[in-house]
Amino acid sequence: MEITDYPLLLEKASEAMQNAYAPYSRFKVGAAVLGSKGGIYAGCNVENSSYPVGMCAERGAIAAAVVAGETQITALVIVTDTDTPCPPCGMCRQALSEFDKNMVVFMVARNGVTDVSTLKELLPKQFDQTLLNH
Ligand code: THU
Repeated sequence: MEITDYPLLLEKASEAMQNAYAPYSRFKVGAAVLGSKGGIYAGCNVENSSYPVGMCAERGAIAAAVVAGETQITALVIVTDTDTPCPPCGMCRQALSEFDKNMVVFMVARNGVTDVSTLKELLPKQFDQTLLNH
């Protein structure tokens, strides 16, 4: 990731958060991912009256990146309007690990309070395709 990518990732994730559809939890999440081809793709959480049907912001952003032909994601920014940074849920960690275990994950809270981790730190010993024996 180039240092110059970060401001745009933050902007796209923040914009996405504004559009989050979260009438049930009232917890809005925005995400933006950086593909290895250089594109930036955003996602927001999209809830549903049938609660388990809801989708996290991170997996929405992954889907947008894949639609655009990306198969590697090198960085992710997650934005929430919270006092402390919001790490990705377990299901999203597994989904993200498909696209680069060395991904850098920035978690940005209100007033810019930021935490940063690698995906490896967030999900050590992940399930991956090398375990599939076919
Ligand atoms: N959520 C995300 O979009 N990403 C996360 O990493 C954590 C949780 C959403 C799911 C649900 O719409 C709301 O936040 C509350 O759990």
